[in-house]
Amino acid sequence: MDFRTLPGFREFYPEILAARNEIFSRWRSAARSFGFKEFEPPVLEELSLFTEKSGEEIRSQLFEFVDKGGREVALRPEMTPSLARMVGSKAGGLRKPVKWFAIGENYRYERQQKGRLRAFYQYNADILGDDSVACDAEIMALLVASLESLGLTKEEFKVRLGDRKLWVLFLKSRGVPEDYVVPVLSAADKMAKISPEAFSEVLSGSLKGSGVDSDALAREIRNFASINDFSELEKFFEGISKGEDSELLARLEDWKVLFESLENLGKSDFVVCDMGIVRGLAYYTGFVFEAFQTVGTGRALAGGGRYDSLVRKLGYQDLPAVGFGMGDVTVSDLLELVGKKPKNKDALDAFLIIGSPSLRKKALNIASSLRGGGISVEYPFKDSGFGKQFKQADSSGAKFALILGEDEAEKGVVKIKNLSSGEEVFVKETEVRKFLSEKSKLD
Ligand code: HAM
Repeated sequence: MDFRTLPGFREFYPEILAARNEIFSRWRSAARSFGFKEFEPPVLEELSLFTEKSGEEIRSQLFEFVDKGGREVALRPEMTPSLARMVGSKAGGLRKPVKWFAIGENYRYERQQKGRLRAFYQYNADILGDDSVACDAEIMALLVASLESLGLTKEEFKVRLGDRKLWVLFLKSRGVPEDYVVPVLSAADKMAKISPEAFSEVLSGSLKGSGVDSDALAREIRNFASINDFSELEKFFEGISKGEDSELLARLEDWKVLFESLENLGKSDFVVCDMGIVRGLAYYTGFVFEAFQTVGTGRALAGGGRYDSLVRKLGYQDLPAVGFGMGDVTVSDLLELVGKKPKNKDALDAFLIIGSPSLRKKALNIASSLRGGGISVEYPFKDSGFGKQFKQADSSGAKFALILGEDEAEKGVVKIKNLSSGEEVFVKETEVRKFLSEKSKLD
C-alpha cells in the first residue's frame, strides 16, 4: 500500500520544522514586545460559530462533520470567532484593552493553488475593547514589525490599506440599500480574481431585488477600487459630498490620524492606500488591510481589519476589535525566495567520543550531567574505534566533539574539539559544563 499525505496537508521533517519554529519564535517575540499575551482556542468548534460569523467564502471551505454525539462540528478555518467568544464570555474580568496573540493550525478545504493549503499555520494578533484609530495603527505596526523581525524589508512587502466605512459611504451615495451592502462588498472582494463579465454577474446576483442598475454600479465599483492614493480618495469624496457630509469628513480625518501614528511608529513607509482591499470575511466594519509580497508572486502574507460588532453578534457585550492573521505558507515561501530562510538553531552542542568500552560508564555520567545543565549531547550506542566515532561526530552536526580517552580519564580531563575550527583544548571533567555553556552563549 502506498500511503500519501492528503492534498493540502504537510508533514514536517525536522529541518523544515526547525525553520518553521524559528519563524514562530520571531512572531512571538514581536507580539510580546508590543505587550501581547498568548492564548489558544480549540481546534474543533460548533459548526454554527463559523457558518454564521465568517461569511460566504469560508462557509464553502469548511472541514465539517457530525461527531459521534450527533453534534455538527467544524475544524477551525480561522481563529477570530473563537477569540471573540473567549474574550466576550469573560469580558467583565479582563483588563482592557485585551491584547492577545495565538499561533495555530487552521483548516480550509481550498482549491489547490500555490501558497494555499488545506492545513496552514496562522499567527493572529488582536486588540479588543478599544475603538480608537491609535489602536488600528498599533495593530498595523505590529503586523509590519512581525514581518521585519524575519528580516523582511519595505522593498519586499507592503501593507495595502482599505476602508469598509468609506466603501459603505460610497455605496450609499450610489443608492445601494443597507441590507445589500455586505453582499456587494463580498462581490467587490472577488473582483480582482475574476473577469469583468464574471464580476458583473456576481454583482447582479448580490443586488437582486434592490432596484439598483448593476452594470452601471459595476463600472463605478471598479473605478472606486482602483483608487490607491489618499489625495485621490479625498478628491473622489469631495466630488460626491461637496464637503458637507460630516461623517465622511470625520472619516477622512481618521485616515490622517492613522498615517500620522504609523509615521511616529516608524512604519508609514510600509503602508499604502488601496481601496481595492475590501476583505472577504463578513465581520469587518472599518479599516481593512492586507500585507503583500512585492517581489515574486505578489501573494498575500497577512490580512486583517477592524470588526466592531462580532463580539456583540455572538451575544456578549459591545466590544470593538481589530486584528490580523498571518499565514506561514506564503511567508516561508517569500523568505526562501529572498534568501532569508531562518537558520536551523537546533544544532547539537556536543558529541561524546568514548575511547574504550571501560569508559562507557564515565561517559554516560558526563553526558547525563551535561544534559542536566541544558547542553545537548549524543554518544554512540555501540563500541567502535576513534575513526568511526569521529565520522559519527561530524555527521551529527555537533559544534563540539568531547573526547574521553584512557589518558584523559586518568587525568580527570576531557579533550574538547571545536568541529568547525578544529581547535582543541583540555578541560577538567568538572568544568566541561561551564566551558560549553559559555561557548554556546557566545554563538
Ligand atoms: P484571512 O485573510 O482569511 O484572514 O487569512 C489571513 C492570512 O492567512 C492570509 O493572508 C494567508 O497568509 C493565510 N491563509 C489563509 N488561508 C490560507 C490557506 N488556505 N493556505 C495558506 N495560508 C492561508 C483571517 O483568517 C482573519 N481571521 C484574520 C483576522 C484576525 N482578522 C482579524 N483578526
